[in-house]
Amino acid sequence: MAHMLLRHREIENLHLLDIYRRHGGYEGLQKALEMGPQETLNVVKKANVRGRGGAGFPAGIKWGFIPQDAPVKYVVVNADESETGTFKDRELLEGNPHQVIEGALIAAFAVGAELVYCYFRGEFLQVGEHFEQALRDLRQNGLLGENILGSGFNCQVYSSYGAGAYICGEETALLASLQGDLGQPWSKPPFPAQAGLYGKPTVVNNVETLANIPPILVNGAEWYLQMGTEDSPGPKIVCLSGHVKRPGNYEVPMGITYRELIFGEQYGGGMLNDNAFKALLPSGGSGPVVTEEALDAPLSFDGLKPYDSLMGSASMIVMDETTDMVWAAWKMIDFFRHESCGKCTPCREGTYWLERVMNNVYHGRGTEKDIALLESVAKNMQGKCLCALGEFATSPILSTIRHFLDEYKAKVRSRPASADAEMEAAPQAAAVAG
Ligand SMILES: Cc1cc2nc3c(=O)[nH]c(=O)nc-3n(C[C@H](O)[C@H](O)[C@H](O)COP(=O)(O)O)c2cc1C
Ligand code: SF4
Repeated sequence: MAHMLLRHREIENLHLLDIYRRHGGYEGLQKALEMGPQETLNVVKKANVRGRGGAGFPAGIKWGFIPQDAPVKYVVVNADESETGTFKDRELLEGNPHQVIEGALIAAFAVGAELVYCYFRGEFLQVGEHFEQALRDLRQNGLLGENILGSGFNCQVYSSYGAGAYICGEETALLASLQGDLGQPWSKPPFPAQAGLYGKPTVVNNVETLANIPPILVNGAEWYLQMGTEDSPGPKIVCLSGHVKRPGNYEVPMGITYRELIFGEQYGGGMLNDNAFKALLPSGGSGPVVTEEALDAPLSFDGLKPYDSLMGSASMIVMDETTDMVWAAWKMIDFFRHESCGKCTPCREGTYWLERVMNNVYHGRGTEKDIALLESVAKNMQGKCLCALGEFATSPILSTIRHFLDEYKAKVRSRPASADAEMEAAPQAAAVAG
């Protein structure tokens, strides 16, 4: 299939403005400028472009929330890309940065914003080089700033770099960080569309979401709706990693099965060393793990619902029979403990205690009661955290206990007898020390 997003794989040096323009670049923006903001919004709404940052919220509806009469509004490109196993935005920003910028300019035109910020994760300093070059070239060629393409539309694009915190991918934490505050989420409402950056209405969209927009403006919503599934139209970039023969980014039509992605010759090419498949994290560490039974589900926003999981940003981490699932869950909760911003108690304390208990269980220092404790702590966090990170943190624990309880039991059965003696002695030792 010819790429719609990863076009730089076919077109050499697509990151350069003249090459991008030679291949239809900025025709989508031109079309939007001719149609006007309302018609542009209507096309994006009709195409039902769902957010590629993970939640799948329709971009057109989000843009429609921005109050028309607000004097100052912003568009923010979420280039934080910190989800475990996700590396698609990075490739787009390096290989096809103009398509992202063009999408952001179309968004700005549709909502009436004159400023776009692109927020990169701190580690993307080098990744941002092509993007910065693209901005310089656009300014020199009259495609950024005043009176873009002679239309009367004024817009500037600036980039900003975080300091490498996963939480700064969450849209409100990102906006807080962008405006110079501590990168911590705020409780919604207000949603960014009501009061976002500097308290002004703000659209926040993922890099891949915005890269979908220019071809839709050029080819129309009907054309876009022919790709993918009814509820999840268009192409999707899947980040395939773990125990597969051919890891990497794959741009595929939504609706393809997970089995095809892992075993298909053009995609994952099967399991590494021809080992048996064991489990899949379909949305990095943030979504529940699934097993073989889910592999025939379609890649779509709702495809994994029957298996209590989700596509998220489609970062597929594949695990084979050699994977210790208790180890995997421990590693994931350690990540969330480290990345919890600490603002709310259920997540700050919950991730801390989950990691400690998991650490004990993995190292053979746990008991059967600890498995129940893990479940209880995780379930008590659900629905009580200020942002979704706290919710995500419960997924690896609860889903691995659900699917691989036998592995947890084997770990607690391997508890050495000396561990009980240590536990008995611990309070007395603490009393002596205290
Ligand atoms: C902990 C956490 C991390 C997130 N990280 C990212 C990220 O790195 N990139 C991203 O686009 N969205 C991320 N999101 C989702 C954003 O909050 C937001 O929904 C998204 O940028 C909206 O864009 P979209 O509608 O185009 O998907 C994260 C959410 C949470 C809760
Ligand atoms: S859920 Fe976690 S990451 Fe989110 S605000 Fe609370 S402490 Fe911070």
